[in-house]
Amino acid sequence: MGASEEIEVLIRAKYPILYVVTYEERRTEEAVQRVCQNLSRSLHTWSVTQGMRPHVNRVSGPVKPSGVLPGELEALALVHEAPEFTVFLLKDFHPYMKDYRVIRLLRDLAARMRGRSQTLILCGPTLILPPELEKDITVVEFPLPTAKEIEDTLDKVSSAVKTNPSVNAELEASERERLVKSAQGLTLDEIESVFARSLVEKKKFDVEAILHEKQQIIRKSGILEYYAPDSKIKDVGGLELLKEWLDKRTKTFTDKAREFGIPAPKGILLLGVQGCGKSLVAKAVAAHWNLPLLKLDVGRIFGSLVGQSEENIRKAIKVSESVAPCVLWADELEKGFAGVGGSGVSDSGTTARVFATFLTWMSEKTSPVFLIATANDVSALPPEMLRKGRFDEIFFVDLPDEGEREQIFSIHIRKRKPDISKFNLKTLAKATEGFSGAEIEQVVVGALYAAFDAGRQLQQKDLLAEAKAVVPLSVMMSEDIEELRSWAQLRTRPASKREG
Ligand SMILES: Nc1ncnc2c1ncn2[C@@H]1O[C@H](COP(=O)(O)OP(=O)(O)OP(=O)(O)O)[C@@H](O)[C@H]1O
Ligand SMILES: [Mg+2]
Repeated sequence: MGASEEIEVLIRAKYPILYVVTYEERRTEEAVQRVCQNLSRSLHTWSVTQGMRPHVNRVSGPVKPSGVLPGELEALALVHEAPEFTVFLLKDFHPYMKDYRVIRLLRDLAARMRGRSQTLILCGPTLILPPELEKDITVVEFPLPTAKEIEDTLDKVSSAVKTNPSVNAELEASERERLVKSAQGLTLDEIESVFARSLVEKKKFDVEAILHEKQQIIRKSGILEYYAPDSKIKDVGGLELLKEWLDKRTKTFTDKAREFGIPAPKGILLLGVQGCGKSLVAKAVAAHWNLPLLKLDVGRIFGSLVGQSEENIRKAIKVSESVAPCVLWADELEKGFAGVGGSGVSDSGTTARVFATFLTWMSEKTSPVFLIATANDVSALPPEMLRKGRFDEIFFVDLPDEGEREQIFSIHIRKRKPDISKFNLKTLAKATEGFSGAEIEQVVVGALYAAFDAGRQLQQKDLLAEAKAVVPLSVMMSEDIEELRSWAQLRTRPASKREG
């Protein structure tokens, strides 16, 4: 069911107050207008700048504005006076939702309107719902435009320039599909503007320009960060089992897989020792699958304002779904969701609620958003998170074994371009027992400095000297790592092939 059908049903079922959460006022207004036409209701629209339009007629004649009340209270008073078969759309009403008088008036209105053919619709970009009103207001999510709506807009824009000889608005079927896909996640206004801008600047519809615009939007959301693909799967050493698993799913995000009946994979949790390539894999997978990578800032979800955190997580989910298919990367998950259900800091249940929203989404989501979560510390993660069905798989990323260390050396030496055949990788791997991938990278970088300082090319002995000087973290944290390993043995799948 689309949002306008939902609104229609709610109006017919005499729900007194609806709250439509959206940036798209124009689209909302158009949808409400259509619904009102269908149901023969008269629509009155209010905004702080325009006041109520058209005027409200009482049975006993028009209501005169008293001129003494602030606008928002006046508006609610008008609703109170209005006859049946009316719908009120109040735009950007969220700033007033903190005023105790507004809250009380809305409660009174809800009681009065219940069972009458009268509906009040609040509309704004953020949801501010005081607890007193939770039971009286129904929240409607107004989704971003569908592919069909984007196509209609595309047709509208291109037919407007049809007679202009300097512009080429022609599109082949495949280009058209790509364009529509790339515009998903923008509001209709944004889509119209970016299409028009592309025609003015490039004289044609340009996918790159639209993708650029989309990165803007993601950035503006504040909680998600758009990552340009830089790492590749071949930059990741070892972790063969994990790579195989991921490789098998490369084609599952295509329409073809969907038609075949394969559901899009949900996501994985990478759990493990610091610096062994968890974040690296997340970045590489997105590039390998050719999907946009969105990084979720788990810490920033918990904004300082009450109610903001829930709003944030909903927004992040919505934006990522609108960009789908994509990879959503929740790095260091335990930092955000630590202590849920514990009695630690009291944040009146905000963390728990945000967490619940996230969990529900994880188990119910059908949109092709592939979640890659990473964590170092399982004890900090709430057990519900690890239950079956949330993630497709939980992988344990351990310290690299000898063979893997060889690969990692090879990757990092090659990256800095010295001739790889001059190095004995086996000896290097043997000399770095207990080193993480990050530490091996440090050895290579440190050795490069030494060689540069001595004014010559990098040599095997620089690497060995550097390796000797480093005490790997795994030595200092051997107990923690052992504990993590034994926990992981029973509950997770290893990311690497291990002999023995
Ligand atoms: N398996 C690996 N292959 C190649 N390089 C690696 C590997 N593991 C780590 N590295 C190097 O170390 C860097 C840091 O690794 P990464 O950030 O992926 O570790 P992590 O597992 O996410 O650690 P943390 O738990 O501290 O976040 C990588 O950018 C990469 O250069
Ligand atoms: Mg990391």
